[in-house]
Amino acid sequence: MTPCESRSFLLFLFLLLVLFSFLSSLLYYSLDPKSYQQKWPTDVPQRNINILLWHWPFGHSYKLDGDKCLEMYNISRCFLTDDTSTFSTADVVVFHHEELSRGLSPLPLHLDRPASQHWVWMSLEPPVNNANLAQFNGLFNWTMSYRCDADISIPYGKTILGGDKLGFQAALNRSCFVSWVVSKYQPHQARAVVYQSLQTYIPIEVYGRWNKKPLSNKKLLPTIAKCLFYLSFENSKAKDYISEKLWRNAFQAGAIPVVLGPSRATYEALAPPGSFIHVDDFKNTADLAVYLKQVAADKQASEGYFQWHHTHQVKTYTDWRERLCQICVKYPSLPVSKVYQDLESWVNS
Ligand SMILES: *[C@@H]1O[C@H](CO)[C@@H](O)[C@H](O)[C@H]1NC(C)=O
Ligand SMILES: *[C@@H]1O[C@H](CO)[C@@H](O)[C@H](O)[C@H]1NC(C)=O
Ligand SMILES: *[C@@H]1O[C@H](CO)[C@@H](O)[C@H](O)[C@H]1NC(C)=O
Repeated sequence: MTPCESRSFLLFLFLLLVLFSFLSSLLYYSLDPKSYQQKWPTDVPQRNINILLWHWPFGHSYKLDGDKCLEMYNISRCFLTDDTSTFSTADVVVFHHEELSRGLSPLPLHLDRPASQHWVWMSLEPPVNNANLAQFNGLFNWTMSYRCDADISIPYGKTILGGDKLGFQAALNRSCFVSWVVSKYQPHQARAVVYQSLQTYIPIEVYGRWNKKPLSNKKLLPTIAKCLFYLSFENSKAKDYISEKLWRNAFQAGAIPVVLGPSRATYEALAPPGSFIHVDDFKNTADLAVYLKQVAADKQASEGYFQWHHTHQVKTYTDWRERLCQICVKYPSLPVSKVYQDLESWVNS
């Protein structure tokens, strides 16, 4: 064969091979459609997801160099950036409400918005702190909040199975009865009203900026841990709004939370059974005070509130990067075409 002939022979062989593999794969997948899914599992994102954070919440930035979602949380193909010049290539753009509503960071309405790009409205504040919402109607595709019905639900904390060995015997030797940490005290708030009344019946140690007894991050949990009860009083009563006042301050310190916030049903749905005392269960603060004294005097009753530590452990979310990486985890199941035409109603619903 001449070199030319050999080349055309090789080409012929090659084409034969291509045809053969095409036909065999056709046969293979037509016989067993499931094998297609086995080869390319649908639960693994097939491509990189680029997430652009338009501005940092409350002006505190975190490092985003390298591959943070993989390095810190073992979430792959998920890239975070705060470089706004990458807008045109971002799959998801996240806007934190506070800076938008105060005009500190304008929306990029003058830029061409790629058709497949999704905008996320993000806030971890209860409705009362989400001002000026109406101007954002019809702009966002997804919501990101502590609410269970948000597209990307990012609670302040949760409990996962697996005992954390936090000694419930810690319940026994306490030098203090009840503590409360509060920085922004406002007399009209429900929590202030309950506190003022409750402290006429029982001693309450109050820390935080309001009482000019601020606690450093390092001192917070050890101080609370000296007391049997902690007042996990939310600054406003709102759907699903359970903040670090429960997950961190009370649960991680190992105090029994006395909760004021959403309904008992909400706490029951989100926190372990028998882990809290709900203010709404009492006719008045006098009854609540009586009950707290009873629990403190009854070893079995107080230990009961710590039983869940044997079977559950607390996980808190504090780093914005971890929350942002969660977008990639949820991404495959998020609704593709969705628009919040009335964001204001959704937030206040
Ligand atoms: C990281 O994730 C991969 C795949 O999702 C998993 O196989 C691996 O065990 C994880 N590694 C760690 C340290 O959790
Ligand atoms: C209980 O607390 C007191 C004072 O805080 C301390 O002196 C004592 O050793 C503690 N007892 C136990 C059993 O931990
Ligand atoms: C996202 O919302 C915008 C604004 O309402 C809308 O024009 C766009 O079609 C939505 N994007 C997707 C992918 O649904």
